[in-house]
Amino acid sequence: MIAERLSRIKPSPTIAVSTKARELKAAGRDVIGLGAGEPDFDTPDSIKEAAIAAIRRGETKYTAVDGTPQLKAAICDKFHRENGLDYKPEQVTVGTGGKQVLYNAFMATLNPGDEVIIPAPFWVSYPDMVLLAEGEPVAVPCSQNNHFKLLPEDLEAAITPKTKWLILNSPSNPTGSAYSRAEMKALTDVLLRHEQVWVLTDDMYEHLVYDGFEFVTPAQVEPALKDRILTMNGVSKAYCMTGWRIGYAGGPAALIKAMAMVQSQSTSNPSSVSQAAAVAALSGPQDFIAAHNAVFKQRRDLVVERLNTCPGLNCHRPEGAFYVYPSCAGAIGKKTPDGKTIKSDGDFVTYLLEAEGVAAVQGEAFGLSPYFRISYATATEDLEEACTRIKRACEALQ
Ligand SMILES: Cc1ncc(COP(=O)(O)O)c(C=O)c1O
Repeated sequence: MIAERLSRIKPSPTIAVSTKARELKAAGRDVIGLGAGEPDFDTPDSIKEAAIAAIRRGETKYTAVDGTPQLKAAICDKFHRENGLDYKPEQVTVGTGGKQVLYNAFMATLNPGDEVIIPAPFWVSYPDMVLLAEGEPVAVPCSQNNHFKLLPEDLEAAITPKTKWLILNSPSNPTGSAYSRAEMKALTDVLLRHEQVWVLTDDMYEHLVYDGFEFVTPAQVEPALKDRILTMNGVSKAYCMTGWRIGYAGGPAALIKAMAMVQSQSTSNPSSVSQAAAVAALSGPQDFIAAHNAVFKQRRDLVVERLNTCPGLNCHRPEGAFYVYPSCAGAIGKKTPDGKTIKSDGDFVTYLLEAEGVAAVQGEAFGLSPYFRISYATATEDLEEACTRIKRACEALQ
């Protein structure tokens, strides 16, 4: 019964880790889950109230397929205000989460064999979405020495006549690394020379940056490329709205129209109530973002410092998001107290879970080993306890 196309993909490994941690917890184990990709803060009240008001006003019907005029106007204002980008409503699309927007983009543009360059480590869904759309993901490894960022020469070398998209994700899931203006310009300079290559920039973690880091997006850094850039963003992370499922993008009108066509034959409009909430998120008070960031920054510093005291681990301090991506190279080849050899980052995270009840995600899932991802979007005291346990586990390796 099952279509062949499904044999090309796998279930999300990050969701698998969260599920396993939940199962162990339900069975009575003391587990600290560091796998989740969502803020532990609740959706701000001003946003919830806007949703309740929308329900009371009767905004409970179908809307325009790819977004209400009110939400598109709020998105145009956001792009103008925060990114210096002028998009018209017909150059903006809204989907059920950033995930649907990406999916629409690939379904609307990829022909069999079209290549999509994906800097590794990458967010787990990019390659599988490309495969579902019959494209070819081309992973380009980005080394820890360059803070997991794509080098212009590696981009140049990866481009072929079949390259259709380059995906950029800054700040990144899973590393938290973000491109400075100069680093981004070096990449857009390469793209100016390759007219067949479009850029899909996933700016989901735009607001989650620390230490005064200045976020930049490619269309702002190189306006000459704007006609071949899809600038994707969403309310899930910065506004603590993962469950509301609203993502959006700005790009050339013909692409936006094609993406709406995909959506019109799959889900139609995103939830009308969530769209009203997203208007409030983008247009209302933004002060809670800085308050959350102060907590995230403190947690990042705590986790980086504590992990760097663990034998065998080495953790770089990222600019943003709520992840760190430590190397566990020094643990590979060692033996656990019950005599198992750690051969991979998968073995390492299994050991952390079994020996100490700490759930992290193996780097293999993100396309660069031997590393693992920790999400620090969890209570500070749980993070402290998790770091104590990780250190104990590393010290017990021989
Ligand atoms: C880099 C990145 N892009 C996109 C998404 C999807 O966001 P949404 O929950 O809005 O679908 C995520 C969620 O984890 C992400 O980490």
